[in-house]
Amino acid sequence: MRQATHSLFAGGADSTPDIPSESVNLVVTSPPFLDVVQYAADNWLRCWFVGLEAKKVPIAMYRDPSNWMAFICRVFSELARVVRRGGHVAFEVGEVRNGTIELERLVLEAARGLPFEALGVLVNVQEFTKTANCWGVNNNSKGTNTNRVVIMRRI
Ligand SMILES: C[S@@+](CC[C@H](N)C(=O)[O-])C[C@H]1O[C@@H](n2cnc3c(N)ncnc32)[C@H](O)[C@@H]1O
Repeated sequence: MRQATHSLFAGGADSTPDIPSESVNLVVTSPPFLDVVQYAADNWLRCWFVGLEAKKVPIAMYRDPSNWMAFICRVFSELARVVRRGGHVAFEVGEVRNGTIELERLVLEAARGLPFEALGVLVNVQEFTKTANCWGVNNNSKGTNTNRVVIMRRI
């Protein structure tokens, strides 16, 4: 039986020099949605678990959608380096700012001109769950209520 192996690297998704070029078959990821979440505060437990200081992790937080798109473009440029031809990227985003910005549209625009073919966007519309009550959300109108997964193939 083949032994499974793994590696853990900490750093920005737009620069991953520890990952060899054309070495990846599948990327499943989800970037920060503009500036809506305080990740340093939310991830303190995970950081503690792997011995990182949360405040020292550079978090991508962009209020301006065009700056966010520039970040996503840099990430896809790096993904174009590490993903093999024929490999896939599943890039999960959502709708933000009361549904006025559908981030998958910005992702598709940001990746334009890079060696990826868009296969589609999988939209998962959820039923309201009581778990959201802990954040003071009691319906499907506030916050991000759908998952939008942009599926790309490296060409
Ligand atoms: C929408 S959340 C996705 C969370 C993911 N589904 C998980 O379970 O960990 C975005 C994640 O991107 C991380 N992040 C922030 N800036 C980043 C960067 N420059 N490069 C890579 N990841 C970043 C955040 O800390 C956060 O964990």
